[in-house]
This record gives sequence, structure tokens and C-alpha cells, in this order.
Amino acid sequence: MQRPSTKSYFLKTFGCQMNVYDSERMTESLTRDGYSETAEIADADLVILNTCHIREKAAEKVYSDLGRIRDMKDARKRDGKDTVIAVTGCVAQAEGREITTRQPAVDLVIGPQSYHRLPELIARVGNTRERIVETEFPGDEKFDRMSAPRRVVSPSAFLTVQEGCDKFCTFCVVPYTRGAEFSRPLAKIENEARELIAAGARELVLLGQNVNAYHGEGHSGRSIGLAELIRRLADIDGLERIRYTTSHPRDMDDDLIAAHGEVPQLMPFLHLPIQSGSDRMLAAMNRKHKTGEYIDIIDRIRSARPDIALSSDFIVGFPGETADEAEDTLKLVAAVGFAQAYSFKYSPRPGTPASSLGDQVPDEVKSERLQRLQALLEDQQTEFNQRSLGATVPVLFERKGRQPGEFVGRTPHLQLVHAVADGDIVGRTMGVTVTEARRASLSGVIASA
Ligand code: SAH
Ligand code: SF4
Ligand code: F3S
Repeated sequence: MQRPSTKSYFLKTFGCQMNVYDSERMTESLTRDGYSETAEIADADLVILNTCHIREKAAEKVYSDLGRIRDMKDARKRDGKDTVIAVTGCVAQAEGREITTRQPAVDLVIGPQSYHRLPELIARVGNTRERIVETEFPGDEKFDRMSAPRRVVSPSAFLTVQEGCDKFCTFCVVPYTRGAEFSRPLAKIENEARELIAAGARELVLLGQNVNAYHGEGHSGRSIGLAELIRRLADIDGLERIRYTTSHPRDMDDDLIAAHGEVPQLMPFLHLPIQSGSDRMLAAMNRKHKTGEYIDIIDRIRSARPDIALSSDFIVGFPGETADEAEDTLKLVAAVGFAQAYSFKYSPRPGTPASSLGDQVPDEVKSERLQRLQALLEDQQTEFNQRSLGATVPVLFERKGRQPGEFVGRTPHLQLVHAVADGDIVGRTMGVTVTEARRASLSGVIASA
């Protein structure tokens, strides 16, 4: 076999959109440094696992992957080739040196706030063969120093505007893995938005662990909120659609609700996690909001934007959750009506307050509650999609589909749509008449450009 002339890397991403964004930025910086991507771990001089610590399953998957990658590294060694293994992301931050103890083949452990040091750290490993763990929180340097040009991979591009979380929900690792809340300044976000649009993005998804807590520096030096940021970005030519995720009910202010009624580019979709329909559970989770306040936000956002599609996150089987309290979550779902949602069994995470609570709910009870909740949410999703039957909706096409001539895009309500076209329509927004509605997607016929 011939050796590749440039160094190649293999990168696998776990977890949320913020990790996807970070992986894109790492890809860009590696490309600038002369690396090329490979889909085969066996060909990679550098393997990066960008990891997630949110639930036990996600974190454990990393170690089983690392076992296989170690074997690959040993095999390459026998052929005289070196492999650098790097673990980045939230497991890196949470477990640090423990990772190299559990899997000594790992060379580099880098927390989410230190990716700008990636090239330098890789070089250090190469020169000294030392194992490096870098999990400091150096503040806001990362974005400024990851300065490789943005290259768009899809007409819908992620743009991180806020990171970290100060909320400390008792079940959640994010405040420990991503650190304190930090908002990027408007000017930097505008520059990156323009770069992304120039490179072909038509939609920007503004990201943050608590994106609606955004309070970055505006042009006058005073701080601005997410609504103002959205209004400024809406002024940029060529930007057709704006979305944001994930929001906390506590930070859903009047200005942001008003923006949903006023900014045409802001899509009628809101992902607003509630976690539970029981006020006692919400208090135990330290969510800082009650169900009544959540319903009130939903009412106000529906007045501002009557066609808004709603999404949420739910946790079943939080410690101490009774059958009645699980039922309260079903009632809340029935009362609100969601277009889609994510639901999870509570997973105790090391170091979080809830993991040491008594009264942990047995797994089979969690499974049963999850099943009932998911059945209801799936019915609501199917019903929501069926309401689009016969309608002609604007679809921004993002990629080719699996069938010949097929393309896949999204409606303003984030529904996935399949349609067949003659030419390449990736990046174009076209009217599609919906002919089929399933739980997770729609099919239709292109009606107009
Ligand atoms: N910042 C967002 C969500 C971050 S994590 C928010 O506040 O809503 C995404 C989702 O994972 C959470 O909304 C929650 O539903 C789920 N989650 C977080 N920790 C969990 C845990 N320990 N067990 C199960 N689900 C969890
Ligand atoms: Fe986690 Fe709560 Fe922060 Fe969301 S708001 S990231 S669930 S601590
Ligand atoms: Fe996972 Fe970290 Fe995102 S724990 S969900 S990758 S912020």
C-alpha cells in the first residue's frame, strides 16, 4: 500500500450540535495545517474522538471505541507508522488524566475550551511522545485563536454564539464540562456569519448550551441579548433563515418572544426543554421554573407567532419521581402539543448532586415511563406532520438523498422533506407540495422555485 503524501486524520463526533461545531472548527484548522480527512481509522496518523459526557451510555461508548483504536494503533506500529490518539470534548474535560489511565494508548486529552492549542499539542506529542492532558478554562481565547477560514459543509451552518452554563440543574454535567457562561461579541459573530454566507450557507443555527442567556458585547460596547443579535444578523444579505438552540425557559424574555413575530428570517420553531411536568421534580432538578411559567411562555410565544412548532427535552425517572409525577409529564405534553421532542431515562452522572440522592428509580420503571412518554410524543409528531399534507411549503434543500435524483431539506418547522428534482438543488429554497407524511419526515413534489 502506498503511504499518503500528507498526514491524515480520522474524527468522530458524539453528543450535541456544539460538539459538531467544534469538530468543524478542528477540521478547518487541521486542513489549514495540511491534514486531509480519512474515513478509515487504519489510515489515520491522527485519530480524534470528540466526546459527550451527558449520559453514561455516551461516555462508555468512548472507551469501547478507544479499545478498537488501540488495536489499530498497535497494528500500524508494526508497519512502522505512528498514530496519535486524541480525546476531546466533554469526557476529556470531566475525566482528564483518568482517560490515559484507563486507556494508555491515548496521547492527548483536550477539554472543549482548549481546541485552539490542538496543532501545538499534536506537535509536542510527536516530538516528545509524552502524554498531555489540557483541561484548563482559559476564558474566551478559543474562538479568537481558532482563526482558520470557515468552510461550509451544508447550506445550514452551525454558529456557536454562547458557551457554558451557570444554571446547575442537579442532573447535568454541562456546567462542569463546558464551564461558566460566556457570550461572543456581536462583531465577531457577524464576521463569522458573513464568512459562512459567502461560503454558501443560507441558514444559520445559533448555538449555545443556554443560547437565550446570550449577552454579548454590541457595537456600542453595551451588552445585547439574543433578540438583538438575531435582528442584527437578519440585516446581512443572503441570510434566508435563522434558528437558535438550546434555550432555557428562565431566559425566554419578552424581546425574544417579540422577535418571533417580527423577524421574517427567524424560523417558527422553538426547542424549549422543560424536563418534567411535575413542579416537585422541577424543584428537585433545580430547573428554576415551574410548569405554570412554562405554559405561560408557550401562550405568549403562540400569540406572537401562532404557527410556531414546539420541541422539548424530557427526563423520566429522576430520583424520587412517583407514578403520579410521571403522569403529570404526560398531561403537560398533552396540554402543550409538541411537533417533536427528545426524551431520556435519567442517568446518574458522577459529581452531580442528583447522583447521590436516595430513591433512585429502578431501570425497568424508567423504561416503562419512557415508553409511554415516547408513544405520546410520537403520536403528536405524526399528527403535526400530517397537518402539512396537501400544503405547499418552502423547503431549503441541504443535501442529496439516497435515491437517484432525490434531495433532502427542511421546512420552516424543521420537518425533514424528501423530493425528487432534475438538477442539483442543494442550497436552494423551493416550494414543495407535501404528498406523504410520516412520523419523522415528509415527502413531496417540487411546485416552484
Ligand atoms: N442546555 C440544555 C440542554 C443540555 S443537555 C437545557 O438546559 O435544556 C440536553 C438534554 O439532555 C437535557 O435537556 C436533558 O433532557 C438531557 N440530560 C441532561 N443530563 C441528563 C442526565 N443526567 N440523564 C438523562 N438526561 C439528561
Ligand atoms: Fe444542563 Fe441545566 Fe445547564 Fe441545560 S440549563 S446545560 S440542563 S445545567
Ligand atoms: Fe454532551 Fe458536552 Fe454537548 S456533555 S451534550 S457534548 S455539551
